[in-house]
Amino acid sequence: MRISVIGCGYLGAVHAACMAKLGHDVVGIDVDPRKISELQSGRAPFFEPGLPELLDEVLATGRLKFSADMADAKGAEVHFLCVGTPQRKGEYAADMRYVDGAFSSLLDSLEPGNVVVGKSTVPVGTAARLADDLAERHPDAVLAWNPEFLREGFAVKDTLSPDRFVYGVPAGAAGERATAVLDEVYSTPLSLGTRRLTSDYATAELVKAAANSFLATKISFINAMAEVCEVTGADVTLLADAIGMDERIGRKFLNAGVGFGGGCLPKDIRAFMARAGELGADQALTFLREVDDINVRRRTRTVELTRTLVGGSLLGKRIAVLGAAFKPDSDDVRDSPALSIAAQLQLQGADVTVTDPEAIEGARRRFPELMYEADLMQAIHKADALLLLTEWQEYRNLAPEAATLAVHTRNILDGRNVLDPARWRAAGWNYKGIGRP
Ligand code: UDX
Repeated sequence: MRISVIGCGYLGAVHAACMAKLGHDVVGIDVDPRKISELQSGRAPFFEPGLPELLDEVLATGRLKFSADMADAKGAEVHFLCVGTPQRKGEYAADMRYVDGAFSSLLDSLEPGNVVVGKSTVPVGTAARLADDLAERHPDAVLAWNPEFLREGFAVKDTLSPDRFVYGVPAGAAGERATAVLDEVYSTPLSLGTRRLTSDYATAELVKAAANSFLATKISFINAMAEVCEVTGADVTLLADAIGMDERIGRKFLNAGVGFGGGCLPKDIRAFMARAGELGADQALTFLREVDDINVRRRTRTVELTRTLVGGSLLGKRIAVLGAAFKPDSDDVRDSPALSIAAQLQLQGADVTVTDPEAIEGARRRFPELMYEADLMQAIHKADALLLLTEWQEYRNLAPEAATLAVHTRNILDGRNVLDPARWRAAGWNYKGIGRP
């Protein structure tokens, strides 16, 4: 099929490359010419494992092109909307200007019978509103809402073989046509067993908001348990293992630590609360405020733990922060717990050096006042405390004996509970985990 993908960020760039991999003819469109020229020459504008190789492979087939001109969407039968919906400045609500802008400029390139497919995470009600606009300009075009559930770091795999497809479509013949077209787009993963559900627009939009709210709730639940463990001397990692053995609960997303960040979970739960408020259903989601508060409290708590670890005062203490990205295998520093903690420590008088295998450039743009060092051993040189805040494999593998030779004082705060406390303590380290004795 001939496909256009509007917006070439994390979602769109991966989607465009994966659609070409599935055999379609794809044009990826973005307003940022720098991004377009990088993608066109096979370079991903962000770190995502497997994406550069995939870009090389599909660009060589000639099935994938990139353009900064929306007019190049003309000729495609299916148009995927993949632009961002960040949090509005000073508010909880999502900023819809990119979705609205991309949609209205796409209207000029549509041809009779086209299918427009929204993938961005939007407030419930958006699809119905856009469908009305579409019907006015192009009565025989149809809109579907097909939310994306990809995780950064696994984006290629999650796009090529997702857990499920959700199609939000209108009732009647138009909905059936949109469903048939999407089935053709995704025929390969569908034939390999990916499940597919069709629904109305509102349900499809809510599936995404509900999924991210549930994941955030799981993480904050275990972090709340970590707080209780800390005052009782219990161990949250064993607790998570034990409750996770109940299949109804499951062990995934029960890792206590410095909490969740990134471009999705924090802003999506806030946008969901804001939207529920507009709809008069704010009480239904007040628990998400608590989820958010527990998550933010992890960051201040980590600063306090660090202060205790270095003897009660942060002033002039050399702190090495291991990890800047919001999670490993990503260079994304949006709302990163690691960076937020590093910045708070620095503000309180510590001398902070941040290291990360991929995210230093992005981190420096966001927090230029922090010090950055790409080399792990240099970063921990003469440190009074190490803080492991993003669990890159390199940091999980760090040997306490090697670290001993570099640091000034053997203090380590394991903000993701991924190190072996017995091993670090045996090497003479003062080890502190999150919610562990
Ligand atoms: C998330 C959803 O998983 C994905 O389905 C959705 O499409 C977008 O949002 P992503 O933001 O890539 O994906 O990251 P995810 O792997 O979900 O991790 C989110 C945050 O939670 C990270 O900061 C991670 O470190 C943290 N986390 C995750 C925990 O603190 N504990 C856990 O047990 C799991």
